[in-house]
Amino acid sequence: MPTIHYILKDGSTRSIEAKPGASVMETAIHHNVRGIDAECGGSCSCATCHVYVDDTFIDRLTPPDDMESELLDGVASERLRGSRLSCQIAMTAELDGLTVRIPQSQA
Ligand code: FES
Repeated sequence: MPTIHYILKDGSTRSIEAKPGASVMETAIHHNVRGIDAECGGSCSCATCHVYVDDTFIDRLTPPDDMESELLDGVASERLRGSRLSCQIAMTAELDGLTVRIPQSQA
């Protein structure tokens, strides 16, 4: 199963094996990774599942669609090049080792 590395607010890392097809947000919630609130439950309407995707993986992801991009304009922490909504990233074997940093604030 593909592994996701979550870099937490305190700088520590949690590495979790994801079910293929599960989103980065779902995997975090199921394993009590703190800092991803996901208030809308993954319907791409709350922007509280914001993460910063590591540079080495950004170009391997499908770019954000218009709705995600619009929500990313309103995230609580600064929008950076690697900013994505973690509910919109479905894990595949090709994404093994995906590293995401959790922002300081989601609200
Ligand atoms: S969980 Fe709400 S936008 Fe991702």
